Amino acid sequence: MQLGVCYYPEHWPEERWATDAAMMRAAGISRVRIGEFAWSRIEPERGVFDWGWLDRAIETLHREGLEIILGTPTATPPKWLVDIMPDMVALDRDGAPRRFGSRRHYCFSHAGYRVEAARITRAVAEKYGRHDAVTAWQTDNEYGCHDTVQSFSAAARDAFREWLASRYGDIGALNTAWGNVFWSMEYRSFGEIDLPNLTVTEANPAHWLAFRRFSSDQVVSFNRAQVDILREASPGRDILHNAMGFYTGYDHFDLAQDLDCLGWDSYPLGFLETFRFSEHDKHRYARTGHPDIAAFHHDLYRGCAKDGRWCVLEQQPGPVNWARHNPAPLPGMVNLWTAEAAAHGAELVSYFRWRQAPFAQEQMHAGLLRPDGEPAPALSEISGMLGSLPSPDKTGPREKHAVILFDYAAEWMTQIQPQGEGLSALWAAFSCYEALRTLGLNVDFARSGAELESYALVVIPCLPIVSDAAASSLNAFAGQIVVGPRTGSRDTDFRIPDSLAPGPLHDLLGLTVTKSESLRPGLTHEGDGWEIARWLDHVEGSAEAELVAKDGTVACWKHGRARTCATWPEGKIIKQIIGLAAKDAELPVHPMPEGLRRVSFGKGSYWFNYGPEANIAKAREISPARWVYEPDSKE
Ligand code: GAL
Repeated sequence: MQLGVCYYPEHWPEERWATDAAMMRAAGISRVRIGEFAWSRIEPERGVFDWGWLDRAIETLHREGLEIILGTPTATPPKWLVDIMPDMVALDRDGAPRRFGSRRHYCFSHAGYRVEAARITRAVAEKYGRHDAVTAWQTDNEYGCHDTVQSFSAAARDAFREWLASRYGDIGALNTAWGNVFWSMEYRSFGEIDLPNLTVTEANPAHWLAFRRFSSDQVVSFNRAQVDILREASPGRDILHNAMGFYTGYDHFDLAQDLDCLGWDSYPLGFLETFRFSEHDKHRYARTGHPDIAAFHHDLYRGCAKDGRWCVLEQQPGPVNWARHNPAPLPGMVNLWTAEAAAHGAELVSYFRWRQAPFAQEQMHAGLLRPDGEPAPALSEISGMLGSLPSPDKTGPREKHAVILFDYAAEWMTQIQPQGEGLSALWAAFSCYEALRTLGLNVDFARSGAELESYALVVIPCLPIVSDAAASSLNAFAGQIVVGPRTGSRDTDFRIPDSLAPGPLHDLLGLTVTKSESLRPGLTHEGDGWEIARWLDHVEGSAEAELVAKDGTVACWKHGRARTCATWPEGKIIKQIIGLAAKDAELPVHPMPEGLRRVSFGKGSYWFNYGPEANIAKAREISPARWVYEPDSKE
């Protein structure tokens, strides 16, 4: 693993660059990401390029032996470009333009912007693509950040119509697939179909699902256009993109097929504050991050990545500026987050950012340096830390434990039709992940239909569409299976299958779901240390009741090697079910005290202490460090 940093030479006086580069190298940093927001400095007027400053910045970093990850600057189209083609901006769901003055103000479907994005990509790639220091590229920056994947513009509408025509071929086929006879929504041609926003009440869920798929495909094809140029003009360099946390706006498996290595941006404290964690967890882990936030994404994106190559392109180094509250990490946490990335197989951890900016939107966002150029606390924590990670001879194949099957379309479908407030396939996946991690197990992710042979346990948190490929790989799988609600409940066009849920998994699970209900808070069925809450499937079939609430309501059905969770898979009930399945799978379970996590790595294990209290560390004698690596013999 290497350490890296995100650097903006255009923000600082040129006289300072050599000092920065020397300090980076002294800290053990070997890769520097630059350029991803620098379009207005590279091309201040259309066709007028100023390469001088970037030449000198690259030379300064190169002289210090630093490798460069160069960004294509397409996330920040400059003002002159928006003035030339004002309709290149995206429109939000209410039809309002997303105006110039921050970033990501473009529509993925705008043909003119695609030409401009290709033009600037080619210009940068031809200028630096064969430079010795440039060893990798980052395309754009965080596709979808600030809710920018969906655009409700005329360009998006026209492209959506073409996409529908090529998917369905015939308008009658689309009408049938979507059930447009309902409410007289039938179309006579593809040219009549609008985007699904601004309807009186909800649009047809099949219409929304098609739009979500289309929007995802637009991101993938926008990215691919850059990748094609970079491969041609900059041979032999890795191409990366930086994905986000808890973000499902496009299909990351699809995007990653065009990349060499999938990056992601890890902000454990910002995510804890921003996303749906309990007040208890937000408070308890305010300065350490919930123990599964970073790991969940490490494992998810390793699963999405082609050939499993992944990295952290932005790592939180101190307080961020964008969450509701922005505390500083406890001493040692930036070091721990870095080690946890190593434990999950990262190639690179790159901190965002080198020096805190004294101007503009992110003034309150920490860097490795303070705004005055002096070191901030994280710099000393990461300096030279690579030497403390287990050496390569201790690594090797990781234990294969469990795999979670996750499809992006599953999350789109639960967003489109949640049926109960907040019921989401993504968060079901997080809860299942947490349950596996609290048993001390390693976890992989795969999309449905993947090869499962090397696993002992497959967990399917919520998978409305079960493809034939997915059904046959599950039927062929000999290990333990846990299946959550809504699985197999829809066809590819959001229609209930004639056989009802779980569709093609009927024989495997030994049941049919005859009725589903969602449950308001407090409407629960109590079990022995767990409860049925938020969702309940009523079933018939030959599966046997395994976990039954005190009032006789069944939470878990068992049929051979498969368990079906009849309630929403979260909290104590899913821990219980996954615990039973892990036992039957004979997995090496290590129940974790609150805040402690284990990752088996090579011939040993990493142990991480996310608990704020020292006594948790003592449980594994980790004090005073926040993590240790123990060879197997000591366990
Ligand atoms: C990321 C983004 C960076 C920076 C950072 C702040 O989402 O890629 O450019 O804004 O957040 O935390």
